[in-house]
Amino acid sequence: MKQFNVTLAIAVLATFSLKFCDAQNISDTARKWWKEAIIYQLYPRSFKDSDGDGIGDLKGITSKLDYLRSLGITAIWLNPIYSSPNDDNGYDVSDYRSIMKDFGTMADFDSLLSGMHRRGIKLVMDLVVNHSSDEHEWFKQSRSSRSNPYRNYYHWWNAENGKPPYRFSLFDINHDAWKYDSLTNAYYLHYFSKKQPDLNWENPKLRSEVYDIMKFWSKKGIDGFRLDAFQFAAKDTTWPSFPVGFEKNFVKYYAMQGNIHGYLREMNEQVLSKFDVMSVAEGAGNSFEDAHNLVDANRHELEIAYAFDAVDIAKQGGYSLLHLKEVFSRWDSAFAESGWLSVFLANHDQARLVSRFGNDSEPFRTLSSKMLTTFIMTMRGTAFYYNGDELGMTNAGFKNISDYKDMPLLNEYQHQQALHTDLNVFLQKAAFESRDNSRTPFQWDASANSGFTSGTPWLKINSNYKTINVASQQKDPNSPLNYFRRITALRASNPVLVYGKYEILDKTNPDVYAYTRELNNTRWLILLNFRAVPSTYSIPFGIASGTLMSCNYTKASLNGQLRPYEASVYKLTK
Ligand code: GLC
Repeated sequence: MKQFNVTLAIAVLATFSLKFCDAQNISDTARKWWKEAIIYQLYPRSFKDSDGDGIGDLKGITSKLDYLRSLGITAIWLNPIYSSPNDDNGYDVSDYRSIMKDFGTMADFDSLLSGMHRRGIKLVMDLVVNHSSDEHEWFKQSRSSRSNPYRNYYHWWNAENGKPPYRFSLFDINHDAWKYDSLTNAYYLHYFSKKQPDLNWENPKLRSEVYDIMKFWSKKGIDGFRLDAFQFAAKDTTWPSFPVGFEKNFVKYYAMQGNIHGYLREMNEQVLSKFDVMSVAEGAGNSFEDAHNLVDANRHELEIAYAFDAVDIAKQGGYSLLHLKEVFSRWDSAFAESGWLSVFLANHDQARLVSRFGNDSEPFRTLSSKMLTTFIMTMRGTAFYYNGDELGMTNAGFKNISDYKDMPLLNEYQHQQALHTDLNVFLQKAAFESRDNSRTPFQWDASANSGFTSGTPWLKINSNYKTINVASQQKDPNSPLNYFRRITALRASNPVLVYGKYEILDKTNPDVYAYTRELNNTRWLILLNFRAVPSTYSIPFGIASGTLMSCNYTKASLNGQLRPYEASVYKLTK
């Protein structure tokens, strides 16, 4: 073990000198901080509670900034922290310029931001402007009368014209996106819940309000925006009828409609180009063309998009590695020359990384979690990494509906109840894929409530917190946490892992993901076994002369074989 750590340390040191040489060969215009960033997604509600109300808050995050810095991450994407009635945990904003009471005050925000910047960590804010809360003043005004100046901030359909053409709502109990409001005898549109009415981007006044909000936060010195659900912002307001079953392909019928690119260019011109802020879109449309149209630099819209093809692959009962390899290779080749993507496999809308893509049973949890981390940190694109995955936190797998808090899940439960479907099947599926799985409180230590709160946590803590927590992993050099720190350092000091050309090897191997990354005179080889049993692979060169840069075992396997969930990273000698 010691021997390996020494080898690793030497290897890491060697890469520092390499950094300079690699970096020199990437043109200055191509290099961007947001390409090189390791973006840690932080779910504030569940990270650290400072005042004992059972809900994570900004002061809690500030108290953990040294921990965050120790991870080697360079930016944080913070889920929404604006005032909100919390129908959808902050994705229903009632005031875009104030902080949610549960999370603290603007003064808390200011000290969080300066504390992050002092430690060299950038802040990306979630911008939720496809919809607002129904408790936002705009909506209150809008619904009050048909002639109110805010009426056109939202989409209304007057009921004397009959029922509007069916639109599918992702979160509504009946999946009906039009909600009747008797006050003005009209329906309003909500693609998400009825408390999340969709904003009308065709209205220039609304757009200019949004740009002002963005300027407000940009002037505060934040470093970027993640545009929530933005591909759905522009609608075809001739409201055509869609074919039967269209809702199964929500993205096809709802994404990238109308003048979406016009709005993004306007946003870029008015805000993004005027401040040093990056922008990342949730979603990438229906095709590579859509995705390029969002992010190609010469179009002056956004900078990064994230596609869901890969994250959606993992299902209860397993998934095909060949499928995963195909998706990542396809997206990489489509963006090899222009545009930029993110690399991620988990976030607050998915269940836990290790439970979905790895193996959360002992003894494979730790190994498979490190293997997946290795994958994310060695692929081309901006690395997005979800909080808690650095510990290998697992699904909580709640069995009772009363343990769940996620609004769409609770609504769907009621929907299924009304349809008299087998609710046990529903609950089994939920235990595997519910969003609450990744939202359980952060596991800091083995004390009561995992050190997250001194009160009653808003969502049950995963029962495994006594074994999986920061305090115990700090002490163990081989813990997922310390492995994560080593691999972020490796990525940060080796531009080949960010910019290097990706080439898949042994493409049809159903068990092993093998690829190289190449930049100028540097070539790295990454070997990942996605199976709980030893697997073999075949590549067109030997690895004997390569330097082992990282491994989740104490030493790498022999040529051609990998142990269960082994992840080995080599720098090859040319
Ligand atoms: C995005 C968010 C998700 C939220 C939804 C509605 O998909 O990631 O958490 O529920 O938008 O705002």
